[in-house]
Amino acid sequence: MNKEELLAKIESLRTEANGALAALDSLVSLQEFKVRFLGKKGLLTDILKSLSLLGPEERPIVGEAANRAKTEIESRLESLRKNLDQKERSRLQSQKQVDVSLPGLKLPRGFRHPLSLVEKEIESIFVNMGFSVFEGPDIESDYYNFEALNFPADHPAREMQDTFYIGPRTMDQGQRTQEKVHGPWSMVHGPLLLRTHTSPVQIRTMEKQKPPIYMICPGAVYRHDDDVTHSPMFHQVEGLMVDRHLTFGDLKGVLTLFCQTIFGKKLKTRFRPSFFPFVEPGAEVDISCVLCAGKGCRVCGGDGWLEILGAGMVHPAVLEQVKIDPKKFTGFAFGMGVERIAMLKYGIDDIRLFYQSDMRFLEQF
Ligand code: DAH
Repeated sequence: MNKEELLAKIESLRTEANGALAALDSLVSLQEFKVRFLGKKGLLTDILKSLSLLGPEERPIVGEAANRAKTEIESRLESLRKNLDQKERSRLQSQKQVDVSLPGLKLPRGFRHPLSLVEKEIESIFVNMGFSVFEGPDIESDYYNFEALNFPADHPAREMQDTFYIGPRTMDQGQRTQEKVHGPWSMVHGPLLLRTHTSPVQIRTMEKQKPPIYMICPGAVYRHDDDVTHSPMFHQVEGLMVDRHLTFGDLKGVLTLFCQTIFGKKLKTRFRPSFFPFVEPGAEVDISCVLCAGKGCRVCGGDGWLEILGAGMVHPAVLEQVKIDPKKFTGFAFGMGVERIAMLKYGIDDIRLFYQSDMRFLEQF
């Protein structure tokens, strides 16, 4: 190819490039253009390669024309790129704009567990009557769980099917192993266990505090038991009132008021004689059935009454154990199951629902 032909080729390349530039409408097509005209294997590079075929005087003339065309194309390309860039940026920005009229994201709302709800309700009823709330440990000693509560050594409640022991269960073995872990304390307090009721907190409270005592204690308790109405871990609220001149009449008054506050004014209570080692006399408290109002139904087993509390006048032997003079002070105690009350209150017939964390169940309270 000679000089004239190459110059004509450069000129037609310029025209073609200008035409193609006018049609570019995106950063992608711009890149394609760059490869086609200015790339290593592009049209202009082709022309520059042919320069070697020209003579020494012609070469600078054609070379200069080729460079001018290259600079011109590059500068137009650059301003076009800036332009497209700007357009793309404002397009993205307008997309990103927040639409304040869109509805917000709804986060799932948390709920109190039905057992917490009932426990708090029980607490607030007694706090309103002047009781204080105490807590005790879930891991107890034989002493607090049984002995100080006047359980005879051979009482069936100490048997393995009721109590979860921690480590050896006989006093003898218990003393030796626990001595290493806990020091001499365990010699007096016997084997360790998971408390089977919240009654040991009565003893812990009376050891620390002198009458008048008005206390309740909510908490978890543990027993070898597992079916539709029993769980190996469940919850109780214990109550204790010790003062001068307290009688069984006070017990009836406090517990009747409690039952009517939690289940409704129309409810009737019934106090039946019963036995618990740490009270004398002991009683079981029934309420008229919350479902049939005493007419008799499946829930109350047809007789119209539901048992919901154990109670009684604190046994003099228990008071003596904590160095409170039973001639000067009397008291009464009571204990109730939180699950049982929640099941009656909400009409739940399977205790296991409380522990399965199924949102469909939990969302209803
Ligand atoms: N601790 C008993 C139980 O778990 C319930 C109980 C009965 C507690 C009588 C008391 C009471 O304070 O006086 O079965």
